[in-house]
Amino acid sequence: MGFEYSERVRRLPPYLFAEIEREVTEKKRAGADVINLGIGDPDLAPPKFVLRALAREARNPKNHNYSLSQGEPEFREACGRWMKKRFGVEVDPQKEIVGLIGSKEGLANLARAFVNPGEKVLVPDPAYPVYAQGAAILSDGTPVYFPLLEEDGFQARVEQLLPSGARLLYLNYPNNPTGAVAARETLEAIAEYCEETRTILCYDNAYCELTFDDYRAPSMLEFTRNAIEFHSLSKTFCVTGDRIGFAVGNAELIDGLRKVKSQVDSGPPVYVQKMAAEALDSYGGAGRPNEVEKRVREYARRRKILVGGLNKIGLRTKLPLATFYVWTRVPGGNSVEFTKKALQANVVVTPGAGFGQAGEGYVRFAVTQPKERIKEAIERLAGVV
Ligand SMILES: Cc1ncc(COP(=O)(O)O)c(C=O)c1O
Repeated sequence: MGFEYSERVRRLPPYLFAEIEREVTEKKRAGADVINLGIGDPDLAPPKFVLRALAREARNPKNHNYSLSQGEPEFREACGRWMKKRFGVEVDPQKEIVGLIGSKEGLANLARAFVNPGEKVLVPDPAYPVYAQGAAILSDGTPVYFPLLEEDGFQARVEQLLPSGARLLYLNYPNNPTGAVAARETLEAIAEYCEETRTILCYDNAYCELTFDDYRAPSMLEFTRNAIEFHSLSKTFCVTGDRIGFAVGNAELIDGLRKVKSQVDSGPPVYVQKMAAEALDSYGGAGRPNEVEKRVREYARRRKILVGGLNKIGLRTKLPLATFYVWTRVPGGNSVEFTKKALQANVVVTPGAGFGQAGEGYVRFAVTQPKERIKEAIERLAGVV
């Protein structure tokens, strides 16, 4: 029939990962033993107390009705308590928090609330593709990229931003895909830039709990209250498929996001929100509860094995301080070519080019496989390198 996509959908760049996904599926179908270090989806199980809460709340018929589109008050109050315990940031759960069906939809829907056609949206390069595509392009805005460079420790630098500002700016630390954490000066400088240029500051803090050694990630709201911050329970509690997160911050920004969401969804399932409230309340203070700590320690051990192994086979790689990603330069500088060769050895990695132009020359590993599998992957990659 020839149904044409809308212009905004036609503006989306080609999906680089589609061919790789197709090849992986084919290999698996043919019975190949593929080690997938490509996706940021935990292989570890959610804590038992979280599963128990989910099962208990799902059994209650009352928890199967529509939620408030802003999220249930009980969940928002737990988010507020967590922000206070974790960051010392006090917020009003009524006006400064909105529940999300995973933080991804919130990051995208925020742009629908605030970006007019053609308006500029500042997006880091490399970055989680949702900022440029799900947010800017699908809201008819124009992404304007600023580089995160290795020589700057992947810090955003104000000199690289538009002097007159933009409608929105996305920033994400601990960072996907580089694993970098933000220097306090970076956060201060970006907060100041956004206030001076009246740019909406949208801070993605999805990985704040996946940090190693003594590093603890801050909240942008410790630096400015003129911002909106996105949190996710996905990685912290290994519940990526349950779709639960929240946005917190400036009341006008929260209200804009709530307005859009009230027209396009009806909030996360009530039983998932109740599970999430219990998960957040398991924090006794700023420190991670045992169940989270155990999982973070496992990722820490795996990343040491992976980084050690990569260095041994000639890929010079630094230990990241956060996230379950390891970002490394590839010989030859062509990330797609390296990814294809790795795939021939039955190891899946993600080509850096899929995260933006500045990502070319790198690949991303996710330590979402057991240690033995990571060691095996390194042996296989030795042949590729
Ligand atoms: C940087 C970043 N932000 C946000 C998300 C979305 O997480 P969720 O929608 O599961 O909360 C992801 C998921 O991989 C991510 O990498």
